[in-house]
Amino acid sequence: MIIIKSENEIRLMRMAGKVTAMAMEAVRKAVRPGITTLELDEIARDVIVGCGAYPTFYQYNGYPKNICASVNDEIVHGIPDKKKVLKEGDIVSIDIGATLNGYVGDMARTFAVGEISQEKKDLIEATKGSFYAGLEFCREGNRLYDVSHAIQSYAESRGYSVVRDYVGHGVGKNMHEDPSVPNYGNPGFGVRLKAGMTLAIEPMINIGVYDTKVCADGWTVKTADGKASAHYENTIALTKGEPSILTVL
Ligand code: MF3
Ligand code: CO
Repeated sequence: MIIIKSENEIRLMRMAGKVTAMAMEAVRKAVRPGITTLELDEIARDVIVGCGAYPTFYQYNGYPKNICASVNDEIVHGIPDKKKVLKEGDIVSIDIGATLNGYVGDMARTFAVGEISQEKKDLIEATKGSFYAGLEFCREGNRLYDVSHAIQSYAESRGYSVVRDYVGHGVGKNMHEDPSVPNYGNPGFGVRLKAGMTLAIEPMINIGVYDTKVCADGWTVKTADGKASAHYENTIALTKGEPSILTVL
């Protein structure tokens, strides 16, 4: 069941989104060769807790840390670790959730560690571009898979593949609400979009194949072929007009 939010609920969600964006900004500034993903986790946690919010991912289905930090061929759900030291040329996908006023903000970005290859820069840009291609279709009256299809065609026309095994989602009092928001699909299908829907749209885009595998830790998801992956996610609200991004500073 899709939960439609009131204007007041969207106002509360924007506050959660702002805290999420503040934590992301602190992590963005800290990313450099030599830092560990556990240090990034602590930086994000301190911002979230300092704002009186709760790190949504902590203990979600037993998840052991506050954020996800996925390096290079890791797609999502990388567990921050003091042994995981970032090095020049890496890319790191940071996924952060913050709960404030009982509502969740959910957001992801992929950052460069020092100087990275042109191939990785292009991947990060295309992943962001695919999010915005989808956002254009987040309008009342459109169908959900119009959004999905726009993301898919943007990425695939540039030679990338779209992860199938993990998808975006509705978001509100719970991190995962209906509907699922795949990053691939047939235009003209899916539920009809309506003002008051709040969605986490989160393309995960790969250089190589879209197939995934889960690591022995039970969380970390990698590309099957070992090629790099990027992630770009915002929590958005549908309105009577332009969609509104809630995970902003
Ligand atoms: N942003 C991710 C998602 O939308 C975060 C889940 S990670 C978990 O599913 F650790 F909380 F499970
Ligand atoms: Co999400």
